[in-house]
Amino acid sequence: MRMYDIILKKRDGMELTTAEIQYFINSYMSGSIQDYQVSALLMAIYFRGLNERETTDLTMAICDSGERADLSAIPGVKVDKHSTGGVGDKTTLVLVPLAAAAGVPVAKMSGRGLGHTGGTVDKLESIPGFKVDLGTAQFIDQVRRIGAAVAAQTGRLAPADKKLYALRDVTATVDSIPLIASSVMSKKIASGADAIVLDVKVGSGAFMRDQQSALKLARAMVDIGSRVGRRTVALITNMDQPLGFATGNALEVKEAIDTLKGRGPQDLLEICLELGATMLLLAGKADNVQGGKEILIDLLKSGQALNKFIEFISAQGGDPRVTREDGVLPAAELTAAVPAPSSGYIRAINAAMIGRSAMLLGAGRENKESQIDPAVGIVLQKKAGDTVKAGETLALVHANSTERLDQVKEHVQSAYQISADKPEPARLILGSVPEKL
Ligand code: URA
Repeated sequence: MRMYDIILKKRDGMELTTAEIQYFINSYMSGSIQDYQVSALLMAIYFRGLNERETTDLTMAICDSGERADLSAIPGVKVDKHSTGGVGDKTTLVLVPLAAAAGVPVAKMSGRGLGHTGGTVDKLESIPGFKVDLGTAQFIDQVRRIGAAVAAQTGRLAPADKKLYALRDVTATVDSIPLIASSVMSKKIASGADAIVLDVKVGSGAFMRDQQSALKLARAMVDIGSRVGRRTVALITNMDQPLGFATGNALEVKEAIDTLKGRGPQDLLEICLELGATMLLLAGKADNVQGGKEILIDLLKSGQALNKFIEFISAQGGDPRVTREDGVLPAAELTAAVPAPSSGYIRAINAAMIGRSAMLLGAGRENKESQIDPAVGIVLQKKAGDTVKAGETLALVHANSTERLDQVKEHVQSAYQISADKPEPARLILGSVPEKL
C-alpha cells in the first residue's frame, strides 16, 4: 500500500477501504509517513468528506492507536458527557456531582482547553490542591467509592488524535465534520463509558457556526456510537453568547458552585438539567427527560449535589473550603468595568471574542508552552436581551497585567452589539439527535 495512492483516491472523491484507513493511521504513528502526506490527505478529506463507514473506521483506527480504559470493575451503566467546546462552558463541573448524586457513575477523562474554548481540567486545577493526574487504580477506586472522578486524559489515550489535531490546527482542516466526529468519538470510546451524551455547540463561539452543520456533526457522532455499540445521544445547544456569566478558570468554578447551591445563571442550569436528565435516562435512572429533570432539581434543592461536589474535590486533593469561603480560589489583582458605549438592548455577544479576550488575559493557552493564569477572566454583567444605558457596566475584566487589561477592555466592548429594538429571545436547546437503535 502507498500513501500516494490513498491521497489520490480521496482527492478524486473515492471511498477508502478499512485497510487503507488503518494503514494511514498506523504508518503516521510509526513515523513511516510524514506530515506533508498526512496534511494532503486531511485536506482531501476536508473537501471530499468521509461516509459513515469510513468515519467509523477512522474513529476506531485513532482509538486503537493507544490504550483503552477498562471500567468493568465499576458497577452500573457508566455515562460520559462531552461538549464540542464552548466559551464559559462549565457544565461538566456541575454535571459530574449532579449525575453522581443521582447514582450514575461518572468516570470522566477530560482535556485541556483548545483555542479560545476552555477545558475542564484547567478549570478544576484552579481549585487549590486539586489533582487531575490520577493513576488507573485510584481513578477506578474513587468512582467505586463516591461515584465520580475526573482525570486528565493521558497521552496514552488516542495518541493519533493529538498528532492529527496538531496538524489540522496548522493546515486549516479543523472544522471538517468527519474529522471532528472521529476525533471526539475516538477519545470517548477509548475512555470506556457505556453510554455517551454529546453537547454539540453551535454559534459564534463554537466550531459549528450554523445549525445545519451542527446537526450533521451530531448525526455523524451518534452514527459512530451506534456502529460500535455505545449508546449515544446528542443535544444541539446555542453558543451564540457565552454560557452563564463567567469565562476564566477560577471564575467558572465559582459560578459552577453557585449553580450547585441553586443560585447559578438560568441558561447554565437549563443546559445542565437537559444534559443531566439525558444521562439519567441512558443510565436507567429515569423513565423520561422530564422525570430526570425532577430528580436533578430535588438533588440541587436538598444540597446533595453540592455535598457530592465537596466529596469529589476532597477525594482529588482539592480544598473543600472553596464552596463556603471567599478568598480560597485564586483572585486577580486588577478588576475593571467595561462601559456600554450607547444605550439600547444587547442584541448579541460574540462568544469567540470573549473566549479570545479571556485567552489574552492568560485564561487559555496561546501556544502549547503557555502557562494558564487561573485567576483571570471576564464576568458579563449584561446578556443578550438585557437593556443597557450608555456608561453602564457591560462586563468586569479580572486581570493580572495593566497592559492586557486595557487591550481586553476594548475587545470585550466590541464583542457586544447594542441595538435600539428588542431582539427575539434565542432558544438555548436547539435540537437533539436520539440514539440510533
Ligand atoms: N474537539 C475535539 O476533541 N476534536 C476536534 O476535532 C474538535 C473539537
